[in-house]
Amino acid sequence: MKAVVLGAAGGIGQPLSLLLKANPAVTELALYDIVNSPGVAVDLSHIATPAKVEGFLPPDDGLKKALTGANVVVIPAGIPRKPGVTRDDLFKINAGIVRDLATGIATTAPKAFVLVISNPVNSTVPIVAEVFKKHGVFDPKRIFGVTTLDVVRASTFVSEVLGDRSLSLSVSVPVVGGHSGVTIVPLLSQSSHPLPASLDAAAVDVLINRIQFGGDEVVKAKDGAGSATLSMAYAGAEFAGKVIRAVNGEKGIVTPTFVNLASDKTGGEALRKEIGEDLDYFSAPVELGVDGVTKIHGLGKITPAEKALVDAALPELSANIAKGVAFVEAPK
Ligand code: NAD
Ligand code: LMR
Repeated sequence: MKAVVLGAAGGIGQPLSLLLKANPAVTELALYDIVNSPGVAVDLSHIATPAKVEGFLPPDDGLKKALTGANVVVIPAGIPRKPGVTRDDLFKINAGIVRDLATGIATTAPKAFVLVISNPVNSTVPIVAEVFKKHGVFDPKRIFGVTTLDVVRASTFVSEVLGDRSLSLSVSVPVVGGHSGVTIVPLLSQSSHPLPASLDAAAVDVLINRIQFGGDEVVKAKDGAGSATLSMAYAGAEFAGKVIRAVNGEKGIVTPTFVNLASDKTGGEALRKEIGEDLDYFSAPVELGVDGVTKIHGLGKITPAEKALVDAALPELSANIAKGVAFVEAPK
């Protein structure tokens, strides 16, 4: 199981690489960045776990060497937000970075599972898909936008509302839609642990808003020094770990992720009907298997208020997706 991290020397890249090195199912770990990756790799290589770690820089075909034989590629490369910046504002710089890295994957490791963390996820996932289409190697079952941090935040914040943080490990809330502000839609009515009956509608709105704008909370607290890195590394390693377990044959792993709705004809089309819009991408609970996406689940039973949140997500989501697709057709 060779895992590759592209952007491995960054705020997310380093702790994510650490957590992947700590995963005993990973036997090879390749770290690529435009700076510092060899140092990070040597540091991690002293940890007594099976993975052989190597670091690569752009010269001497570093990207190609890092990607050769890759099974899972995680992409946290790109600039993060500062106060006053939206995820969509990052498109200007990150779209080109993701396009170029995707070109490397399409030409060197077209069968790898690609896990996209770089923002804006609602646009960078379509960029990866379009690059793969251009190279004739697109398999919608293998490209994932990582929305796990929204799920992790939902577990944390719901357990806080329940007044017992120890529950955060078992609280599970599906979060659907996309990964930015109002496109992040937590389905609290499907929480494994129901909210207290005493919680009034205003308090539920506060909780929803906190999950949707959790990223801003971190950006504000870091005050110019970036966005979530450690919680994202935790979430990214959790999602990568699930993909690795599924690829290794474990069945029944279901988790929300932002996927192309063509990846599962029945599930994807049924979901499109359910949301009432002809979107090509959406984050929904997805069953993972040896070939990637096995089944895209529908939204299940949602409340009228949740339906309104889904509806409110659609315009931004649709615009973000179109922007990503258009970028590969006509880069600006
Ligand atoms: P960072 O600036 O700390 O690290 C980014 C790394 O990418 C740097 O080491 C940089 O050298 C590297 N890089 C830049 N161009 C590259 C290229 N062409 N090839 C390889 N590496 C390259 O930023 P960060 O805090 O780690 O955030 C990275 C990205 O992840 C941002 O876009 C951020 O918005 C996003 N993010 C997403 C989520 C999510 O939930 N999906 C959560 C947090 C952050
Ligand atoms: C997050 O949700 O923390 C990330 O998308 C980073 C950000 O810009 O908020």
